[in-house]
Amino acid sequence: MPVVPAGAPMNRGEDSWGAAAAVWVATFLLVAAMPAWWWPEGALPAPETSPLATETFLERVDAMTAAHATGERAGDIPVVHPPGGDVYLAAQRFLFTPALELEAGQTYRLHVAAVDGMHGFNFPLADADTMLIPGWETVMTLTPVAKGHYALQCNEYCGLEHSRMMGWVRVVARRE
Ligand code: CUA
Repeated sequence: MPVVPAGAPMNRGEDSWGAAAAVWVATFLLVAAMPAWWWPEGALPAPETSPLATETFLERVDAMTAAHATGERAGDIPVVHPPGGDVYLAAQRFLFTPALELEAGQTYRLHVAAVDGMHGFNFPLADADTMLIPGWETVMTLTPVAKGHYALQCNEYCGLEHSRMMGWVRVVARRE
């Protein structure tokens, strides 16, 4: 049902609003469909998520960092080489900290949490693509196979520098 009376010229301004809305809807649908492109089999892994106070999570990050920092820094972020087992990664505006150095062939339980607002966590090495909500931690098991730097990034809009919110996990040879 047209809202413009028959015979009345279409207002140019409304016309471009309509076009903008159509572009927005198309963009939204493309973004919503992205997981299907990455995992055509539809087998998105379901990470474990459970409630955890932000202060508790930060204490665990600090304890791990204090015990296993290598002394190296990646920009402002300490590099940490934890033994196998539980490792922690905090998402905050606009970085992931600390920089984790893991060993190939070792198994880790990677705990990730947002500590200052919503973030996202896209980490192909762990098949992770998830939203991070403050007050919850997401845990995944990870056994890196090959040495290298593996990128991770925030994929939930979290502020002006969202698009620069990236990090990496470095995998090195196993130390016996
Ligand atoms: Cu953090 Cu986007």
